[in-house]
Amino acid sequence: MLDINKIRADFPILSRTINGKPLVYFDNGATSQKPQIVIDAIAAYYQEINANIHRGVHTLSQLATDAYEISRGKLQNHINAKFAHEVIFTSGTTHGINAVANGFISILKPGDEVLVPSLTFVATVNSILYCGARPVFVDINGTENLNLSVSDLEQKISQKTKAVVVMHYGGFPAPMTKIKETLHQAGSRFNRQIALIEDAAHAPGAEISGKKCGVWGDLGCFSFFSNKNLVTGEGGMVVTDSDQLAKKVNLMRSHGMTSLSWERHKGHAHSYDVVELGYNYRLTEIEAALGIQQLGKLKKSNLKRKQLTNLYRKSLSDLSEISVPFQKFEGQSSYHIFPIILSQKIDRLDFIQSLKRKGIQTSVHYPPVHQFSYYQNRFPAAGLVQTESVGQREVTLPLHPLMSPVDVKLVCQAVKEALGKSLKC
Ligand SMILES: Cc1ncc(COP(=O)(O)O)c(C=O)c1O
Repeated sequence: MLDINKIRADFPILSRTINGKPLVYFDNGATSQKPQIVIDAIAAYYQEINANIHRGVHTLSQLATDAYEISRGKLQNHINAKFAHEVIFTSGTTHGINAVANGFISILKPGDEVLVPSLTFVATVNSILYCGARPVFVDINGTENLNLSVSDLEQKISQKTKAVVVMHYGGFPAPMTKIKETLHQAGSRFNRQIALIEDAAHAPGAEISGKKCGVWGDLGCFSFFSNKNLVTGEGGMVVTDSDQLAKKVNLMRSHGMTSLSWERHKGHAHSYDVVELGYNYRLTEIEAALGIQQLGKLKKSNLKRKQLTNLYRKSLSDLSEISVPFQKFEGQSSYHIFPIILSQKIDRLDFIQSLKRKGIQTSVHYPPVHQFSYYQNRFPAAGLVQTESVGQREVTLPLHPLMSPVDVKLVCQAVKEALGKSLKC
């Protein structure tokens, strides 16, 4: 039996209530809709590590960093310890990429270019700007494959290119072997290395050629935000097999300090120095505890996403006004989202509103980054034909592991009806 009272004693915040309902620390998205699940996950974790509880008088809160250390080990194993990748938690992909990209600060100068898809979440590109570098947008392949186009990447690599950020759209792996070859060849031409960063926010558990997404490049960045496949509410991680980058990211995520409170408690150091202008990008102990439970469920929930995706594909296959991307792809997907592309004849807003009236939430992945007000004038981009076309026609239908096949059928029925009502005049 889980001892909720003991857990509440360790985390007084979990004892607070509002209108008789427990107040949970996490207040966004999916996580907060299931407060009991959150508490149970934390409770289960603390029961599991009961033996490891360090009682005593510490300057740290009790238990601090146990969850962190354990989840680190488990994730390292998941990513594949064979590659000896260092796992460093951060407060999200954004901060992960930022901390990481700052690791390149010695080689990134104003005017340096980083190639990146525009069909991504804005955070991927913001991280490049935080480092003072300039994004150069790469087009996607088209409506069937929404990952970045290697031929456009080849054309846009220049003397100024210092790094490339690849995003595995929807958890469908980008062609990493081809991308690495391309960067290697360009690097040989310019007589230097071009860094490769993976935004694997959509891709925990996805792999290509038997190797997990996130471990192909110099660095891989993951998000554990509440709408992701592996959820801790907020948070993320960076993986790298470079000792130098691991050291740098570890410094940047915690104020540039050479040792942290836990290490000092364990006797590894007595004081510390500050050697970088760092940040607080740390994951909390509670998030790490949640992550351990979530990691245990990842394989099963990715499989559930796959089954639901296959059912969607089958049920929507006879509709001529939509196409479903990634009918073919290499490797294993994490099936993060279910995107569809509407034909030119369908009015997207009408379609979305028609589904909304039936209580079905949709989303758009993504409004292209180069078309946002902030980016348009600062970083004008042309020729992103496929990105712009998909940006106007994509709709993301509901997909999460708690859905049932009946839910999928309901959505598909609503999609059929909505298409009929949304034809442009
Ligand atoms: C592709 C992509 N990159 C980056 C991020 C940012 O992640 P975080 O909010 O954890 O920093 C997200 C999150 O939504 C994302 O989907």
